[in-house]
Amino acid sequence: MSTLSPRAGAPRAARRRAAAVGGASVPGPRPVRVALLGCGTVGGGLLTVLERNRADIERKVGRPIDIAHVVVRDAGKPRGPAVPAHLVTTRADQALADPGVDVVVEAMGGTGAALEYILRALRAGKTVVTANKDVMADHGREVWAAAEAGGADVYFEAAVGGGIPIVRALKESLAGNSVRRVAGILNGTTNYMLTRMTRDGSSLEAALAEAQAAGYAEADPSADVDGLDAARKLCILSSIAYSVRCRMADVHVEGIRGVSAADVAYARRMGWTVKLLAISELRDGRVTMRVHPTLVPVAHPLAAVSDAFNAVYVQGDAIGDAMFYGSGAGALPTASAILGDLMDAVRRHGTGVRQTECTCFYRRPFDGIGAVPSRFYVRLLVPDRVGVLAKIAGVFGRSGVSILSVLQGPTLAAPEGPGERSGAAGPVADLIIVTHEVREDRLQRAIAGLRHLEAVAGISAVLRLAPEDL
Ligand code: NAP
Ligand code: HSE
Repeated sequence: MSTLSPRAGAPRAARRRAAAVGGASVPGPRPVRVALLGCGTVGGGLLTVLERNRADIERKVGRPIDIAHVVVRDAGKPRGPAVPAHLVTTRADQALADPGVDVVVEAMGGTGAALEYILRALRAGKTVVTANKDVMADHGREVWAAAEAGGADVYFEAAVGGGIPIVRALKESLAGNSVRRVAGILNGTTNYMLTRMTRDGSSLEAALAEAQAAGYAEADPSADVDGLDAARKLCILSSIAYSVRCRMADVHVEGIRGVSAADVAYARRMGWTVKLLAISELRDGRVTMRVHPTLVPVAHPLAAVSDAFNAVYVQGDAIGDAMFYGSGAGALPTASAILGDLMDAVRRHGTGVRQTECTCFYRRPFDGIGAVPSRFYVRLLVPDRVGVLAKIAGVFGRSGVSILSVLQGPTLAAPEGPGERSGAAGPVADLIIVTHEVREDRLQRAIAGLRHLEAVAGISAVLRLAPEDL
C-alpha cells in the first residue's frame, strides 16, 4: 500500500526509522496513517499545510503522519500539487475498512455519506477529525454514542469559526469557568455583507452579489443569509459551554434578509452597528439560544469585527470577558484547525489516553425567544401630524413596554417588511422608538397593537439591541 510519506527533510522521529545502531536497524515510532475523506477547499488546504510544515509538525508530535487515502467523488477532477494523485480514490469503503488507518479526517460536508462514514469509523475505533458543523449540530448524540461504542475520539475544532481555536478553548482552557454567555459573529458571509452595507451604504442585494463575487457566499446562500449556519455553530458552542445537549429546534433563528440600508444608516447615526449575532445564555439554570441581527455599540469589540472575519465573545465567572477573533473560513485557516486536532490525535494515538469526551451531562430547560429580555429598536412609518406620537406611546404603555428614546426624521426608505400597511395620506416620517429592556413577548404584544393603529402606516423594522452587560 503506497502512502504519502515523510520526505528527506523530515524530523528526527521519522529519520530514526531508518537509522542503524550496531548494524541493527532501530525502529522509530510507527507512522500514524490517515484517510482523508473529501479533498475540496478544506481537504486540499489540509494537504497544502501538511506538506508545507511537515517537518515541524512531525517533530512536534514525535512521529510521522502518512496520508493513506484521499477519498473524493470524482477521481478525474484536477487537484492542486499538494494532492498525491496516486492516493486519490472514490472507494470510501476500502479506505474505511483499511485496518492500517488510525485516523479519519472528514472534510466532505453534508449529513448523508459524511455522517455514515464518521459513525462507521468511530465504531471501528478510529479517531475522527471533522470540519462538519451540520453533523455535529444535528447528529451530535449519534456521533458521541459511536465514539463511546468504539472507544474512539472525535475532534471538531474546524466545525466552528474556521481557524479560531474556540472549541478547544471552551473544552479545556476555560473548562473551570461557569460560562454565562457566548456571543459570536459566526458567519463570515453575512458579516461581509453587513460590513459592505455599513461602509458603502450598499443594499442587501448588492452586498450579497459582492459576497458571491468575492467567493464567500455560495450560489445558494440561504444557510448563511438565513442564519442557519450560525445557529448550528451556536448549538455546538453552547453544548460545550453549558454541558447540555443543544438542538437546532431550541435556537431562535432570524437571518439578515430583513435588514435594510435605512436601518444600517439609522443605527450608525445612533451609535450602533448591525451585526448578525449568535447569542446563548445560561440564566438561573435555563438556556436560551438565538441568532438575529443585533445593534452593537460601535465601541464594543464585536463591532470592529469586519468583512469575513469571525469572533466569539465568552463571558465566564472566572475569566470575565474574553474574545476570540480570526478567519472563520477558507482553505488554510480551516486546515489550521484540522491540523491542531490531527496533531493532538497523533500524540495520543496508542497511549490509551482519550481527549475530553462529551460533557453534555446536564439536562437543562430551554426557553424560547419570548422569555428573552432585550432592548428594542422599532422603526415605524407614521403620518407626520399631531397626536400620532401620543397614540403610539399609549400602545407601548398599555403593553408594559417602557420607551427609552424617540427619534423622528424624514423617511430614509420606502416602506419595507412584512408588517407594512400603506395608505397614509399626506407627509410621512420615520419614527424610531428604542425601548428599555423588556421581555420579547411583551414587545410583540405592543407590535401587534401597533398593527391595528390608524396612526401607524407601516412597521418598517424591529431589531434587538445587544445585551447591556455584553
Ligand atoms: P468542498 O470544497 O465542496 O469539498 C468537498 C469534498 O468532498 C470534495 O473533494 C468532494 O469530492 C468530496 N465529496 C463530497 N461528497 C462526497 C461523497 N459522497 N463521497 C466522496 N467524496 C465526496 O467543501 P469544503 O468547502 O471543503 O467543505 C467541507 C466541509 O468543511 C463541510 O462540512 C464544510 O461545512 C466544512 N467547512 C468548510 C469551510 C470552508 O471555508 N470551506 C470552513 C469550515 C468548515 P470532489 O472533489 O470529487 O467533488
Ligand atoms: N459559510 C460559512 C461562512 C463558512 O460564511 O462563515 C463555513 O463555515
